[in-house]
Amino acid sequence: MARFQNKSIVVTGAGSGIGRAASLLFAAEGGHVLAADVTEGVDETVAMIAAQGGTARAIRADAGHEPAVIRMIDAAVEAHGGIDVIFANAGISGGMANIFDTDVSLFTEVLRVNLIGPFLAIKHGAPRIAERGGGAIVLTASVAGIRSGAGSPAYSASKAGVINLAAVAAQQLSGSNIRVNALCPGLTETGMTKPTFDYARDAGKMDRVGRLNPLKRGAQADELARAALFLASDDASYVNGQALAVDGGLSSSHPVTRQEYGQTAV
Ligand SMILES: NC(=O)c1ccc[n+]([C@@H]2O[C@H](COP(=O)([O-])OP(=O)(O)OC[C@H]3O[C@@H](n4cnc5c(N)ncnc54)[C@H](O)[C@@H]3O)[C@@H](O)[C@H]2O)c1
Repeated sequence: MARFQNKSIVVTGAGSGIGRAASLLFAAEGGHVLAADVTEGVDETVAMIAAQGGTARAIRADAGHEPAVIRMIDAAVEAHGGIDVIFANAGISGGMANIFDTDVSLFTEVLRVNLIGPFLAIKHGAPRIAERGGGAIVLTASVAGIRSGAGSPAYSASKAGVINLAAVAAQQLSGSNIRVNALCPGLTETGMTKPTFDYARDAGKMDRVGRLNPLKRGAQADELARAALFLASDDASYVNGQALAVDGGLSSSHPVTRQEYGQTAV
């Protein structure tokens, strides 16, 4: 199955984690990937794609900086003749400080990367997708954007904004045949969460990672990448303006004591 044969795909945050995993999958399904990131990890991603026989180019671009985003979009058009799909995925956690320990500069930086980044991807990328007769934009939000408890105040607010931005953009792109959706990962093993997973592994506490969801584990980046590809593909041809939680079921319940499968209710 090659859902993205000869499609031009832009992925931000492609140097690590979910963005790298998605870049590899897009290329494996025939896509021509422009892999963007602020780190050299993006060169490694492109080398991995080349090693699997795919087509990709790397660009160093800050997803929250408008001139860099314009440069990134232009580079994709120049390299691959246009744009069909954008996966606006770059993000930073900004730490776990509470409201009272968060200064304005930190809050602003988290919003700049996590929320203004997707806004700029839509603003400058959607017109190029429209020129091709339509396509898809997928924004990485988070379960932290659905309700409290999965990130700092700045991170959570930024991701709530991303969910709303997907809905608003889907409406404002009415008639363009461009779908916009948000992906809401739960806890996923990536560069961002490496300390958590490393600590749990070293301490023999992996059974505690993700234990609050009914699958009782964290996700692997590939599981999020596959969901992103679904939203970006024609398999999701009637899915628009939505937020898809890919979190093992975490956000499907209020925080109640769960009755385990096979146990008798007391
Ligand atoms: N890992 C999780 O548990 C989790 C959960 C929910 C949401 N997310 C979201 O998933 C997305 C991908 O993160 P990940 O978990 O793969 O983490 P990651 O740290 O492995 O990857 C994020 C990538 O984004 C890049 N990046 C950061 N700032 C950038 C900028 N200004 N411009 C361009 N690139 C930039 C980083 O260099 C990195 O390569 C993020 O938006 C993150 O908020 C992750």
